[in-house]
Amino acid sequence: MSDDLLAEFVAAIPMPALMVDQTERIIAANTDAKTLLAQNIVGRHFATILRQPQVIEAIEQSLRSKGPAITRHLSNDGAQDTTFEVKCRYMNGVGAVSGGATLAIFQDITHVEQASQMRRDFVANVSHELRTPLTALMGFIETLQGPAHDDAAARERFLKIMSDEANRMNRLVGDLLSLNRVESEERVRPKEQVDLTGLLQSTLNSLRPLATDAKVDLNLNAPEGPVTMTGDNDQLRQVFTNLIENAIKYGGSGGSVEVRVIPSERDTAMRGPAVRVQVIDKGPGIDAVHLPRLTERFYRADSHRSRQLGGTGLGLAIVKHIINRHRGRLRVESDLGKGATFTVILPR
Ligand SMILES: Nc1ncnc2c1ncn2[C@@H]1O[C@H](COP(=O)(O)OP(=O)(O)OP(=O)(O)O)[C@@H](O)[C@H]1O
Ligand SMILES: [Mg+2]
Repeated sequence: MSDDLLAEFVAAIPMPALMVDQTERIIAANTDAKTLLAQNIVGRHFATILRQPQVIEAIEQSLRSKGPAITRHLSNDGAQDTTFEVKCRYMNGVGAVSGGATLAIFQDITHVEQASQMRRDFVANVSHELRTPLTALMGFIETLQGPAHDDAAARERFLKIMSDEANRMNRLVGDLLSLNRVESEERVRPKEQVDLTGLLQSTLNSLRPLATDAKVDLNLNAPEGPVTMTGDNDQLRQVFTNLIENAIKYGGSGGSVEVRVIPSERDTAMRGPAVRVQVIDKGPGIDAVHLPRLTERFYRADSHRSRQLGGTGLGLAIVKHIINRHRGRLRVESDLGKGATFTVILPR
């Protein structure tokens, strides 16, 4: 193969690729490889370009054995750490004095790495969340079997705590299943007719006892008559229940929670007809450092308070998936000390 043909061949590979011949020089590299490593790498000794020991070793091994080798190349694209799987394959009859060369191809496996990291984190989180109430339950069972066996008053008290802890586990499992369901239907377009005003009225009615207990005024500010859209009634109810419940639980100290419905013919975010539903509280608000991560599973801004209030930390993750399924957006704005506003923008 002529040098030109070799360069054309490497250029056509749709991911970073380069060739190193037996003189240990890079004899060809495509644009993706130059973007990943450096410009002007052709003609240079490969070890001055690929500085990672495991990559150097793999290429050396492939050149020596005239066979395949595999390794990983770690990098950073400016926004995040990236991982490439590097596969070396030997080609005879090319390179200096046709002594052969190894072709190294860099396959981006960053998303695979991230997915498996997320899975590990998720399992660790779920186990941790379940273990806390379980440990409490086991402790009280032991106490009831032993020291508190004949203490009727203590028994009553412990059974109440045990029931709370069991409920918490039940809620957690329920939320996990719900998250799973929402995620698996995320690509299925909802097709029910929904009247948002009616839905919000009934959601607010079912949350009124919670608001009364927390001494919170609940108000709905919506246009006269129904505001209709295509959606999933149960899921949208779940979205607003969680947002309003959060506003009462975490922002209740502000004394009031307002829900606003704002339809528009041309929404700036959706570039078309949409409706915005805002849940506004006047509580302590959320520190800006937490905002980007708020919809992650098990993420809590104030974990002590959330746990104390029986939260599982899954509510906003479920909210985000449901809104995605409706091709909408969730925005959170908050000024510390002045409350929080959660805005759901839904296309109509
Ligand atoms: N209106 C709000 N004001 C202040 N903090 C909030 C507000 N809404 C949510 N948060 C914070 O965001 C965190 C995540 O909320 P999310 O609804 O996902 O979980 P949770 O309420 O703890 O649990 P769950 O909703 O599953 O019972 C909460 O733990 C809380 O710290
Ligand atoms: Mg919640």
